[in-house]
Amino acid sequence: MLRQVILAASRSGALRRTVEHAPVSKQVVRRFVPGASVEDAVLACEELVTSGRTVTVDYLGEDTLDVSQADATVQAYLTVLKQLEDEGLTRDGRAEVSVKLSAIGQALDPAMSVDNARRICEAADAAGTTVTLDMEDHTTTDATLEALAELRRDFPRTGAVLQSYLRRTEADCRDLATEGSRVRLCKGAYKEPESVAFQDKGEVDRSYVRCLKVLMSGPGYPMVATHDPRMIAIAADLAKDRAKGSYEYQMLYGIRPTEQQRLAAEGETMRVYVPYGDEWYGYFMRRLAERPANVTFFLRSLATRS
Ligand code: FDA
Repeated sequence: MLRQVILAASRSGALRRTVEHAPVSKQVVRRFVPGASVEDAVLACEELVTSGRTVTVDYLGEDTLDVSQADATVQAYLTVLKQLEDEGLTRDGRAEVSVKLSAIGQALDPAMSVDNARRICEAADAAGTTVTLDMEDHTTTDATLEALAELRRDFPRTGAVLQSYLRRTEADCRDLATEGSRVRLCKGAYKEPESVAFQDKGEVDRSYVRCLKVLMSGPGYPMVATHDPRMIAIAADLAKDRAKGSYEYQMLYGIRPTEQQRLAAEGETMRVYVPYGDEWYGYFMRRLAERPANVTFFLRSLATRS
């Protein structure tokens, strides 16, 4: 219930202004977003890579309805890729990028967003690394998977994200569990109707396990994106006959860092999703929705500051 309310609020313009301007917000947001500038992002990546983890960088922003904004987002990705390369961080794919098609014009013109994504894939390829297409709400799933298929013709290592809360996802996993295919499996972070998505947490988890089984038994490259200790234990069990490095774990910046370090120390590939930029509102609200403890922490910070 609380999750649904917060996810609805994540699309409210009025609340967005209030939260963005609350003096304490920036400080709380720092827990999940290392900063606004490209330097902040590269520094965070450097620290993570030095500690044995790998990273995927996200330039924050979504739902763009403005061509120049979409272009600015592409430029931001080209800049961050160049800086990551200059710092030696893209070597062996240690730093890659994650892109939301809605931030580069999907709602304006899907073909334009694919062209924009291609520019980012070209830059990533030149820097020796890859792109993963984030997955947004279910109305965009087909268009995003079509874009993925198109991009993979020239950039076969382009990654996909599938969300276990969607009823369709087990079938999508079967379609994408192919040689060379990189699939990030997450539970899903948007407010979705019952007609397309499981609403019960137990059902979402069971779907996650079914999807994991499909991905882990196929020849592709599964990316296990979860902070859930049960899902991580199940993934470890399913991966025991696979070579380390033929799959990876992924977590969000600032969440369960000790567990991230533990997995990295065991020789697992542990990739951290590093978001940066000013447009943190939607991302931040989805993190609050995932965990009531985060809401309490945020409200307590607001109360003690005001
Ligand atoms: P869930 O939220 O169900 O929590 C299960 C358990 O995990 C908790 O009971 C607790 O034990 C532990 N846990 C969770 N959060 C914790 C915290 N903050 N601190 C301590 N323990 C915690 N979504 C999407 O729709 N599209 C996308 O493209 C992506 N991309 C993406 C990339 C990466 C790398 C990750 C890790 C996640 C995403 N997501 C996403 C978000 C994803 O869909 C999901 O909302 C969150 O990962 C939360 O789900 P969990 O699997 O972590 O478990």
